[in-house]
Amino acid sequence: MLKKILIQLDCDPQPSTFDAVVATDAGVDVLLRHGGVTKENVVPLVHGAMFTRGGRDLASTAIFVGGADVASAEAIAATISATFFGPVRVGLMLDPNGANTTASAAVVAAARHLPLGDPESAAGCRAVVLGGTGPVGQRVARLLARKGVSVSVASRSLDRAAAVCTRITATVPAARVEPLELSGAVRERSAVGGAVVAADLIVAAGAAGHTLLDAEGRGVATNARVLIDLNAVPPAGIEGIIATDKARTDGAAVVYGALGVGGLKMKIHKAAIQQLFSAHDAVLDAEELLAIGERLEP
Ligand SMILES: NC(=O)c1ccc[n+]([C@@H]2O[C@H](COP(=O)([O-])OP(=O)(O)OC[C@H]3O[C@@H](n4cnc5c(N)ncnc54)[C@H](OP(=O)(O)O)[C@@H]3O)[C@@H](O)[C@H]2O)c1
Repeated sequence: MLKKILIQLDCDPQPSTFDAVVATDAGVDVLLRHGGVTKENVVPLVHGAMFTRGGRDLASTAIFVGGADVASAEAIAATISATFFGPVRVGLMLDPNGANTTASAAVVAAARHLPLGDPESAAGCRAVVLGGTGPVGQRVARLLARKGVSVSVASRSLDRAAAVCTRITATVPAARVEPLELSGAVRERSAVGGAVVAADLIVAAGAAGHTLLDAEGRGVATNARVLIDLNAVPPAGIEGIIATDKARTDGAAVVYGALGVGGLKMKIHKAAIQQLFSAHDAVLDAEELLAIGERLEP
């Protein structure tokens, strides 16, 4: 049997050791790691994957694209996809900065408590994604919108939030997404609190170490049934949530912290690496990773 070779392409100068460890734990036999990858220099690396093993054996080679700069990683992935032709392609997974696996895990966690699996019921759900303009927040918003949830994308800037909504509707035309400007001030937050008041689900995907919903803000979120804070760096993104929280009942809501979601994120990452080798044409982006996460649920 051919060895499973994973080619780890990272836009950072040094390829991520985190992604390397997960790949090894997922059963990869040989890991080829490249840092400083750009959309300009990636093509020869892809050719090396395409033109060595042929036919069905191509399924034993796969490419993982990562790195801290999500936009650069996405551009690299687009170049890789454009380099493939016909059946001459290998599996491709995209998870820059853990954004896709983290967003998928957050949506799977939310679906344990909200009827997101049924399109008609999901359409009755409302969500607010705080820090919705970052890589993780954008993907959480997109995945929820694809399920039919009505999503408010929150940012300190209405323009940035609106740009994210435009991007989401470009890929999910039926998405019900709206931009929401939220400053750090609770009074202002209360003034635009309609979406926060109505939200069944609030996901905090703001930058590490910043509180986006404080205790007073939580008081505004009277309808919230699920609160998920993806920030692991104190202070909490949602005041009162502890990083290790995992389906803890806190008042009327069930709450998750970053580590409480992180276990599932790791499982999704490993299972995705394994799935990469199931077919030479596998492409695993946020939606496919969410599907993997849903299959992992009991
Ligand atoms: N659990 C895990 O395994 C895991 C994995 C990856 C990431 N994470 C966490 O998930 C969260 C989101 O990650 P990310 O990479 O998407 O985050 P990010 O890009 O660093 O930040 C997300 C958004 O936060 C807002 N923001 C930035 N500085 C802020 C400040 N001082 N006050 C309020 N808002 C601010 C920005 O939105 P606006 O400028 O538009 O307001 C930004 O787009 C982070 O906390 C990260 O640590 C967790």
